Amino acid sequence: MLIAGNWKMYNGPAETAAFCAELRERDLGGVDVVVCPPFVSLAPAVQLLAGTEIAVAAQNVHWEPEGAYTGEISAPMLKELGVYGAIVGHSERRQWFGETDETVGRRTSAALEAGLSVIACVGELEEERERGDTEDVLRRQLSVLEPHENLVVAYEPVWAIGTGKTATPGMAQEAHAFIKSLIAVPVLYGGSVKPENAAELLDQPDVDGALVGGASLDVDSFTAICRAAVPSLS
Ligand code: PGA
Repeated sequence: MLIAGNWKMYNGPAETAAFCAELRERDLGGVDVVVCPPFVSLAPAVQLLAGTEIAVAAQNVHWEPEGAYTGEISAPMLKELGVYGAIVGHSERRQWFGETDETVGRRTSAALEAGLSVIACVGELEEERERGDTEDVLRRQLSVLEPHENLVVAYEPVWAIGTGKTATPGMAQEAHAFIKSLIAVPVLYGGSVKPENAAELLDQPDVDGALVGGASLDVDSFTAICRAAVPSLS
């Protein structure tokens, strides 16, 4: 079970240091935990969480090791910082920053080759689900990925991200089973995961963890979600 916190563009270095100092004191129930701060906060997160079981990942990574790519960060640079992995292809990158299936594939391959772990995000828009196109969209988004021991997929229906609308456990299970029929990797669920709904989502047989946005920004709610992944604690 893997619980990942996607901090998005929240928590600068000072807030990150305070958050991590608090998080490292918590009993997270023994699940695999990763936090994904903004680039400028990766170094303090790595420092504060050194010697714990909590890993640190970036929110994006470029496909070239270096070059004239203003504003981008490469996998070797992240490795040098002690970062464990990166999110790739989050729907906010696809929606606002021109991320395509092709660039998601390139970023993912380069990161895996460099020895990073990757959380590759997929998920349909609300109108795509209403049109009955969910499986076609997932098939297209997954076509650029190949199974790898350090790859996990996050299924994040776009209509459930930051909206408070969560996929029902049954909807999540159905989509996860479909994804696993195409690519044999663990699949995290993301989209308005909260302490109140985490246990029933994580209880689904093909839900292998969660990618948590808003609720990962509060130490108490993030801790509660991690512990919800352990049936004996929830
Ligand atoms: P949310 O975000 O939990 O705030 O819906 C999830 C994500 O964007 O990864």
